[in-house]
Amino acid sequence: MNAVLEQVKQVLEGSVDAAVVLDAERRILYYNRAYQVLSGLRGRQLSQRVKAGVHCFEIFPLEICDNQCLGCKARDADRALRVDEIKATRGGDGEEMTFIVAAVPLGNGMVIETYRDVTADVRIQRRLKVLLEGERRQKELLEEKVRERTNELRQAQAVLVHHEKMSSLGRLVAGIAHELNNPINFVYGNVDFLGEYMEDLLRLVRLIDGSDLPGDVRTKFDSMKEQIEYDFLVEDSRKLIRSIRAGAERTASIVQDLKTFSRTSGGELQEADIAAGIETTLNLIAPLLKNRVEVRRSIEPSMPKLVCNAGHINQVFMNILTNAAQAIEGEGTIDVRIDTIDKHSAIRVVITDSGPGIPPDVIEKISDPFFTTKDVGEGTGLGLWITESIIRAHGGTMKCESEIGRGAEFTVILPVNPPETARGGILSDPKAAQASILRADTDGVVASNQGAQGNKNV
Ligand SMILES: Nc1ncnc2c1ncn2[C@@H]1O[C@H](COP(=O)(O)OP(=O)(O)OP(=O)(O)O)[C@@H](O)[C@H]1O
Ligand SMILES: [Mg+2]
Repeated sequence: MNAVLEQVKQVLEGSVDAAVVLDAERRILYYNRAYQVLSGLRGRQLSQRVKAGVHCFEIFPLEICDNQCLGCKARDADRALRVDEIKATRGGDGEEMTFIVAAVPLGNGMVIETYRDVTADVRIQRRLKVLLEGERRQKELLEEKVRERTNELRQAQAVLVHHEKMSSLGRLVAGIAHELNNPINFVYGNVDFLGEYMEDLLRLVRLIDGSDLPGDVRTKFDSMKEQIEYDFLVEDSRKLIRSIRAGAERTASIVQDLKTFSRTSGGELQEADIAAGIETTLNLIAPLLKNRVEVRRSIEPSMPKLVCNAGHINQVFMNILTNAAQAIEGEGTIDVRIDTIDKHSAIRVVITDSGPGIPPDVIEKISDPFFTTKDVGEGTGLGLWITESIIRAHGGTMKCESEIGRGAEFTVILPVNPPETARGGILSDPKAAQASILRADTDGVVASNQGAQGNKNV
């Protein structure tokens, strides 16, 4: 046996792994240089203690020494065993270390235990793991940012397209209104002359009719009168002229409304009569209201003019009034109240409808871009978002109060003299994407946009 031990010693002496040979009581019979370094003891100290019969766990205790001694297990099983990542505290500086421990039975109760120091490897691995985790997180964050930006871009693009559409529509309407203006003015301006000329001609006919006509002329005259149904023709021509006049009047006022509505201010602020603007808008949405929705107005006398981007402000009330008209199923009412607040420094417009109202979880969302409860194709969900963005750009606020079954009430407050941002309207309000509506019960507090139901028609 001694010969085997001698051979083992020779092999272990130069090993970089620390190694010991233990007897059946786990006393150290032999240790190599690497083990002495690991023990933190001087050469003589260690050799004296070994000579005195010291146990391995007294010199260099591993976390498994107490109840899972690997050498004991290898001896009992009579085969080599190995365990990775065993913790131990280094003698001397008390530093925590990690080892791969192996045990090989030698016979006669003896066992070799080797300890490979993998502390540095484990540290590197851990650091690598942390780095990789950080990198993964970074990548996730980056991807999230890209998703967010893409979303924002998509929204901004949709809004620009919508805006472009609105202003093209505005230009188109303005062009049509301009083209219609001349011919309709021609009709409107001349119909009265036509009426007068016809009355003159009728007087002439009556004069001839009342004159002494030669017999054959009288006969021809009367027969002609009968043939053309003279009395009916006179009566009907007057009616026709009145109808032409009424029609031309109505067309002229529609053209005027279209001109007012499509007024593109080119970013210039101008003085606008809010009540007149709302009246124009009501005229334009008349087909939506017809014989179904009664509009009641209450307007404070001598309202100040609002300095604003008139085209955009018209769009604000167009959106709110259209929503109200669309919300009312069957018959109902829309109340429009316009007054001033804060010593005439701001104009308040309250639009109340008798529709079905808006549930609380929906109310939080109504001015989110693309939020709509309407069917795909029926609503883009941009209406109130654009509305609120324009109002914000004008330094104003919008508030919505509603109870299910009791209609909805939108209150818009606009300062008479808006900030410079009003020129650009929605485009000067980059935060518009986060636009949200002032909740009914939180006056002055901007509500969050979380957790409502509804579609997003993108
Ligand atoms: N007066 C109202 N009564 C009930 N619900 C309303 C009213 N006004 C707005 N809403 C709700 O708010 C949602 C968002 O309105 P918004 O004007 O932004 O979009 P939309 O009307 O759905 O679509 P678009 O305006 O593009 O046609 C509507 O789908 C509707 O659910
Ligand atoms: Mg709408």
